[in-house]
Amino acid sequence: MSVKFNSKLASIPGYTPGVPKGHSAEDVAGSDLAQLASNESPYPPLPEVVEAIAAAAGSMNRYPDPEATLLRSRLGERHGVDPARITPANGSCEILLAAADALLEPGTEVVYAWPAFSMYPMLAAMSGAKEVRVALADGEKHDLEAMLESITDKTRLVLVCNPNNPTSTYLPFEQIKSFVERVPEDVTVILDEAYIEFQTADDPDATFSLLERHENLVLLRTFSKSHSLAGLRVGYAVGSPEFSAGVDAVRQPFSVNALAQAAAVEALIHGERVRDQIRIAIQERERVEAGVTAIGLESADTQANFSWLSLGERGEQIEDHVVADLASAGIVVRPGRLLGGPGRLRVSYGTIEEDDRFLAALGESVDRHS
Ligand SMILES: Cc1ncc(COP(=O)(O)O)c(C=O)c1O
Repeated sequence: MSVKFNSKLASIPGYTPGVPKGHSAEDVAGSDLAQLASNESPYPPLPEVVEAIAAAAGSMNRYPDPEATLLRSRLGERHGVDPARITPANGSCEILLAAADALLEPGTEVVYAWPAFSMYPMLAAMSGAKEVRVALADGEKHDLEAMLESITDKTRLVLVCNPNNPTSTYLPFEQIKSFVERVPEDVTVILDEAYIEFQTADDPDATFSLLERHENLVLLRTFSKSHSLAGLRVGYAVGSPEFSAGVDAVRQPFSVNALAQAAAVEALIHGERVRDQIRIAIQERERVEAGVTAIGLESADTQANFSWLSLGERGEQIEDHVVADLASAGIVVRPGRLLGGPGRLRVSYGTIEEDDRFLAALGESVDRHS
């Protein structure tokens, strides 16, 4: 007889990691595998950040500061907000899961666009809430009007991913502002801004101006992408102190480890150099997009550190072949089929050399299968 699990377990969709099966990140580091599947930074953390991690390592016999006091206060200074509004977390994923735990339950609803971040379906599955998926509008952008219409008196949470993963598209600040103004005040809006630093249309901190008037708004940020710290798991939410207390009530204490706290504090000191790396990613965006167009493929209008390519009319037939060809050339990308977009590919920008290899291998593969 085998042990019994709870009934919701069967409905929880798993998360498919970007590193190929059977490989650990350590195996891959130093190999010439181009990891373009997880929207990470291709660059290691800044040397000062690595030194801060090494310096903190000697105190690992102690639990970390459960309040992440220094990190909260530096983030407060950085964004000009009260540290009581900031909730550091074990990656921004932790906030998403904790928000589901704190806000959702059977009989309630969570609204989100689809395709969007592949974690969102887990929130309904884990809490027993009903998920309401709203199809993207033309141009693979969130359909904010349709999302507003989907809100009912059962809705507790609305998720907006901007720029959107996997489609890379961005909604300008004015549209977000008008959306937030029209969501009922008792419905929490999580604005997932994991890639906000890569968009060039608005001030990346524009949405902070909405927090004062909208206690139901939560901004979600991460050090995983623009700050090259995906391996340490550190992100944060900025919302009301009540939201912060709700998240704290349902998650384990000490969730942000001491190395992550030290690294994030140090990374914040070097904002200008982090922005240099972001500028390089944006240059790669222009090069990859031009290369994709030269191959004859179309992509969504990207404001992120990745592209969302359509493989054309026969996309659904050739997708697996193209992914396999790229893998044989040592390049890992995400098949759109796994992300809600069959016939598409999501590719993160790598180094110049990796992106050149990707474009050459993509061009050859598309030629072969067209
Ligand atoms: C839209 C979006 N939100 C959140 C996350 C989670 O990031 P973190 O590493 O901070 O958990 C990701 C990671 O890919 C993402 O794409």
